Amino acid sequence: MRRKRQRRSRPGIYVQRLDGQQVRLWPLRGQLFVCAYGCCCGHEEKGHPPVPVDLYHQEWERRGLARFVHLTFTQCLGACALANVALLVIDGQAYAFQGMTAEVVPVLFDFIEAWVAQGAPAPLPPPLAERAFHPYTWPEDPVAHPPACETTQGEGQG
Ligand code: FES
Repeated sequence: MRRKRQRRSRPGIYVQRLDGQQVRLWPLRGQLFVCAYGCCCGHEEKGHPPVPVDLYHQEWERRGLARFVHLTFTQCLGACALANVALLVIDGQAYAFQGMTAEVVPVLFDFIEAWVAQGAPAPLPPPLAERAFHPYTWPEDPVAHPPACETTQGEGQG
């Protein structure tokens, strides 16, 4: 029922492919990449918990987010030492999260769902705030913590 409402509220657009054909697509707001097939994330023999692939998929489906935020299970996202890693790109902003566990996955989807509904980011809840880092901005000090990531309502990330 909920999905039908979302589909009606987000009409597709027509775009022209390189071959000249007009095709319809539904623009996404973002994409959640979950490292599930890399060298470290999910490798219990290296001390990392399993990647809860089914849980990610169930939460994404249950909340009807498919039209807004695509879910992709991928290989390495580049921050292997911070396994398990997930990368959220939404409304042009990028957030990475380290140490993702099954307990935190629903919190991440709460955050995404609220953002989609409100059209702007809410503050990161504590379990996410302590895991969040900028995926492409690193301090020069090699022993520094990963660069922190915050959200400011209506202003994007800090
Ligand atoms: S193995 Fe997951 S980020 Fe590299």
